[in-house]
Amino acid sequence: MTSLDRFAAAKLDDLQRRNLRRALAETVREDGIWVERDGKRLLSFSCNDYLNLTQHPAVKQAAAAALEQYGAGSGASRLVTGNHPLYAELEARLARIKQTEAAVVFGSGYLANAGIIPVLVGRDGLVLVDELSHACIYAGAQLSRARVLPFRHNDVAHARELLNAHRAEHDHALVVTDGVFSMDGDLAPLAELLALANEHDAWLMSDDAHGLGVVGGGRGSSFNGDTHIPVPLQMGTLSKAVGAYGGYLCASAPVIELMRNRARTLIYSTGLPPAIVAAAVAALDVIEREPGYAALPVAKAQVFTQAAGLPAAQSPIVPVIIGGEEDALAASRLLADEGFLVAAIRPPSVPAGTARLRLTFTAQHPNEDITRLAHIVRDKIMAA
Ligand SMILES: Cc1ncc(COP(=O)(O)O)c(C=O)c1O
Repeated sequence: MTSLDRFAAAKLDDLQRRNLRRALAETVREDGIWVERDGKRLLSFSCNDYLNLTQHPAVKQAAAAALEQYGAGSGASRLVTGNHPLYAELEARLARIKQTEAAVVFGSGYLANAGIIPVLVGRDGLVLVDELSHACIYAGAQLSRARVLPFRHNDVAHARELLNAHRAEHDHALVVTDGVFSMDGDLAPLAELLALANEHDAWLMSDDAHGLGVVGGGRGSSFNGDTHIPVPLQMGTLSKAVGAYGGYLCASAPVIELMRNRARTLIYSTGLPPAIVAAAVAALDVIEREPGYAALPVAKAQVFTQAAGLPAAQSPIVPVIIGGEEDALAASRLLADEGFLVAAIRPPSVPAGTARLRLTFTAQHPNEDITRLAHIVRDKIMAA
């Protein structure tokens, strides 16, 4: 064995010993909700395809037409020749939905966060991050080389304490949070965070990966009924409810123009395939046209939480916290035996000691199946 392979094998053994080793399971998605895995058909409660738009005929048709017209790949960075005409349409659409002056599309949500944050803060900057924010927010914050201070989850008072203590030591400050928390399904207090950020001349950035298309009438977590919270930096992804791929930032015209000039993950990475951009445009059409449809995933999640005796879901994501890694894996296996795919989520995706089942609900999940699942979770997992 080479030292390289010895290194890899030792790391893997360690993960195995701690029940943290992961494996890629081949999964065939038949439609919006059914999957096949290991020869078994399972009803999936683990896809982020909240509106089942990956399978929508108009979305697939738009992708197929763009594939025919423009080819498979974009061929270069957007800054060179990869900026095919569909991008302008997608960016205008995103800016309209989020009510910002402009938008810019990145290769993925991860690339967006890794690119945006270092443009806005550097070595002398401060980044306050909700402790449960997504890993790619931390990645962007680390790449910026700014001072990174996590604040307790959804704890505006703690964020205030940190700004009071440290804002003056830094040239710029960014406050970053998930809008809908990816592993917990709760919403960030965006209005309070915005007021706090404004008091301290800090800039608020929300990651709406799990909000666009499913909360705020489909516009995302900065919209609540008739209220619009004007978060100046609204980032998100096109890979979840939108059913396509890619990341975005919606913001003012100068901020977006700066991103186009300075965001390294935009400049030094190839543009998205035209078919994917076309799919995203068609999916946003559905979201804008059908707010009633966009409301269904949260309603379905609430059918589950009510039947399971859990607090009402705020988003399509519902965690069932188990604790230990092995117990979470066993719970997931138990549900597979009952015909359901519900992935166990383990550290480091979630904090140590909070391994969980993470359930996601989509517009097309039948209520009878949701109720059957809820009763099994309540009686065989939560009661165990
Ligand atoms: C909150 C959050 N932000 C960003 C991402 C990354 O988005 P993408 O999958 O488009 O890279 C994800 C999902 O993986 C997420 O849950």
